[in-house]
Amino acid sequence: MLRSIRRPLLPAVAFAAALAAGAAHAQAAQPPVKVGFMLPATGTFAALGDMIEKGFRMYVDEQGGKLAGRDIQYFRVDDESDPSKATDNVNRLIKRDQVDVIVGTVHSGVAMAMARAAKESKTLLIVPNAGADAITGPLCAPNILRSSFSNWQPGYATGVVAAQKGYKRAMTIFWNYAAGQESAKGFTEAFEKGGGKVVKELTLPFPNVEFQPLLTAIAAEKPDVVFAFFAGAGAAKFVRDYDAAGLRRTIPLIGSGFLTDGVLEAQGAAAQGLMTALHYADGIDTPRNNAFRNKFAVTYKVNPDVYAVQGYDAAQILASGLNAVKGDLTKRDAMIAAMRKAPIDSPRGKYTLSAAHNPVQDFYIREVKGRENVMTGVAVKVLADPARGCRM
Ligand code: BEZ
Repeated sequence: MLRSIRRPLLPAVAFAAALAAGAAHAQAAQPPVKVGFMLPATGTFAALGDMIEKGFRMYVDEQGGKLAGRDIQYFRVDDESDPSKATDNVNRLIKRDQVDVIVGTVHSGVAMAMARAAKESKTLLIVPNAGADAITGPLCAPNILRSSFSNWQPGYATGVVAAQKGYKRAMTIFWNYAAGQESAKGFTEAFEKGGGKVVKELTLPFPNVEFQPLLTAIAAEKPDVVFAFFAGAGAAKFVRDYDAAGLRRTIPLIGSGFLTDGVLEAQGAAAQGLMTALHYADGIDTPRNNAFRNKFAVTYKVNPDVYAVQGYDAAQILASGLNAVKGDLTKRDAMIAAMRKAPIDSPRGKYTLSAAHNPVQDFYIREVKGRENVMTGVAVKVLADPARGCRM
């Protein structure tokens, strides 16, 4: 009798056990999500690329090394911040490595080539720095998202601050490529709206650092203020040269915060007191930012900067999409919709992405004190990029 009761149960139990084992096996057998970093590892922006990668990896490590239960496999290409090599480089990740998502890059010119390739191949692209307005403008696409800013945004915020300070005549100086041009345009728009006038633009090719003739032109023109866009090693040298030319004491220098972010050690005394505007500041005194900064410093033995935050947030954006579809990358539309809508709990403060997939965020006023870009106020709250030309 016992036998007759147990017998019919056995196959059911065995079936359930087999199912469970099968499910576990299927989960274990899920391949890793392939993440391709296309970042500068050499050249003027090398340190920026390094901080982005550190930030991204730290977020993944905080989730136990997995996102939505899936391991992450990393691939890397050094883009050298060279737009002429960008298409070949991005195709290494798309075609050779067949990555699921590309994370990159720093330089706007390189990023535009990446956006074109991503749009064409429909590869998911998360931009963790490059501000090219076109990426969330004419080149916008469902599969392209940005965790950083558009070039217009910090330029505009800095223009608001300069006008509020009462400056009337400004000169702009920048590397003559998309990031410099668009930052200066954003600055000019806000500054002139606030009653100022940009009297002269000075440019030099990226990544040239022969600033001397331009500093001589500034001294001759004697504007009320100079707006500068430089970043990385170029920013370090520009700020030192500006000081050495004796201009810091006579003509105030301001800029989007890239001028002083991640380079304060190299700038030393030459940077003291410089005012900038950016979507991050070292001294944002929130539990979220303090925890991020402590963890980063302990993990990497270096203080984080805006680039580390943007890398960290790129991973958060990816995680919000993967979590929504339980790691199933084939559910692409649902994944992208979740990434677009997710509130990102960033060290910079909470934000969401716009319809064009660019952060809608606060811009802070910062002042260099010692080795920190200390927050002294808010330049513009919840600033959205106008996303001119985006049709999605
Ligand atoms: C850019 O090329 O978009 C860029 C590079 C460095 C800092 C900020 C923007």
